[in-house]
Formats: sequence, structure tokens, C-alpha cells
Amino acid sequence: MSRPLVLVTRNLPSKVISKLEEHCDVDLYVGDKAISRDELLARVAGKHAIICLLTEPIDAAVLDAAGPQLKVVANVAVGYNNIDVDACRARGVVATNTPDVLTNACADFTWGLILAVTRRLSEGERVVRAGKWGGWALDYMLGMELRGKQLGLVGVGRIGCAVADKAPAFGMTVAYTDQRDAGIAGAQQMPLDRLLATSDVVSVHVPMTPETRHLIDQKALTKMKRSAYLINTSRGPVVDEGALAWALKERLIAGAALDVYEKEPEIHPGLMALENVLLIPHLASATIETRTAMADLAVSNVIAVLNGQPPLTPIP
Ligand code: 8YV
Repeated sequence: MSRPLVLVTRNLPSKVISKLEEHCDVDLYVGDKAISRDELLARVAGKHAIICLLTEPIDAAVLDAAGPQLKVVANVAVGYNNIDVDACRARGVVATNTPDVLTNACADFTWGLILAVTRRLSEGERVVRAGKWGGWALDYMLGMELRGKQLGLVGVGRIGCAVADKAPAFGMTVAYTDQRDAGIAGAQQMPLDRLLATSDVVSVHVPMTPETRHLIDQKALTKMKRSAYLINTSRGPVVDEGALAWALKERLIAGAALDVYEKEPEIHPGLMALENVLLIPHLASATIETRTAMADLAVSNVIAVLNGQPPLTPIP
């Protein structure tokens, strides 16, 4: 029997590609930008598997362009809002993601953002690099101390819980919004409104769904303390960027740190103009170890499905 064909939409670590090549014929897109829609539609034809990233919307048109032999779509990401999971199901195509392997990297990174924005690290670095630092002063560029403050987690899945686990190291108490008991020792469960009104740092960890789109909107932002900070490492559209730019400009909140945006890689111009927002180019899982593990898990999912076995991490 001929070997299965796999489209890989972006270069992956070479040892992971080698592992895939032991089982399949690989069509690897090597451009340094995301594959264009037209090229995706053309190259997907006849493939048995697709390994893709969040930059590729995998919808009914892509699945149909691939053809009925397509068996599996493996996303190299835990978030899967780029995949039409219902359209996959309707065609008997298995869809997989990469949970767990990136949890620690994303939680560490969230703390990096919390520390950086509350202690004004990137603002300070900009001053130094611009040659505008006038020297030490007692009241210069003061930030907020974390000890004794409340961290409010909007969403406590794997990453939210891992962020909570590290809170005692910084002396923060934890509040969270979920309907279920997340089992976080000492944490308080509360409705979103109360969490927004009482937290000193609000960190968003919900998946992108129609229900979570603009969950943090103008109304939500006005409920936050003027001294509070917003962190988003989930998906851009969970926060209304226009409303956030307004709230930051009006100093209705003290600051924000964002790793994700509504229209990546575009950034809302209102945010670009502000000092009190830290803007990072979607790096939460970007460690060599984690990105390799994510790619490896996606490849393992493809190999399992093509061998007639259940996937390791199917999208629920
Ligand atoms: C990835 C992410 O870097 O896993 C996710 O959902 O947002 C990031 O870890 C990105 O999605 C790669 O496709």
C-alpha cells in the first residue's frame, strides 16, 4: 500500500519531521509567513493528514479541498478556534490539539507578564534605550507590589490552574470565575463581576468561543479597580481591544499585558500609542522544549490515526 500523504503547513523541528517521514510522505510548506489560503487549498488536495497552526483556518472548504481520504487534522496548539470541529466531525475527520505539553511554559510566561507590567519593565527599558533616563529618584517609575494582592483568574483550565499554583511564591491570594470547583488550595470562587471589582491582577485563561468573544469589554473594564492590571494570554478576541485602549488611556485601569490580539499580527493603533500596556508577539508557549513537544505531539496524533489507533489528544 502506498504511504499516506501529510501536509505540514509550517516548518517543524527537524527531528519531528524525520519521525513523521518514517511513516508518511511529507509535503512541508517552508515559507517564513503563514501559508496563503490559495496555496493551502491547492496543497491540501489528496492528503490523508494536515498538521497546522493557529494561523490556518481549517474550515469546510479546506476539508472538501482535501477530499474524502482525509483522516486527521492535527493542530500544533492547545487552542483550536482556527478549526471547524463540527465540519471535521461531519466528514469523519479526527481533530487533535496539544494540551498539557505547553501548560508550564504558558504559566511561567503569564507570571513574566504580571511581573513585567506591574514593575514597568518594558516602559523602563524604553526610557533607558532612548537615552532619556535622568538618574535614580525615590519616586521614579513606581510599580505595584504583588505580595498581599489578589490574582483574579478568568478561566481555570490547565493553564489557569498552573498560574494559580505559582501564586503563593509571590504572596498573592487567588480568586477564580469557573462554575466548577477548580480544587485550587485557598482560592475563592466568585462571579466575574465580583472578581473584576476585587482583583489587583486579572488574568484571562478561557478558550475562544462565541460565548467568550469580548468577555472583557468596556463594561467589564469599568468594573475593575483603577489600580488593577489586565493580562491576556488566551486569545485576542476575548478582550475588546478598542475598549481596552480607551480604559488604559483614561487610566480606568493601571495597565495591561497582552500576548494575543484580535487580528494578529495587527495591533490596535490605540494600544500602540500607550506606555501602560505591554505588547508581546504571541510567545507564551515559545520555548524550544515546549514548541518541540507540541510539534511532536501533533505528529504522534497523526501517526496514531493513520495507523488506525485512537489519537492521543483528540479535541473534546
Ligand atoms: C501556540 C497557542 O504558539 O497553543 C496555543 O493555543 O496559542 C500557542 O501556544 C500557537 O497557537 C501555535 O499555533
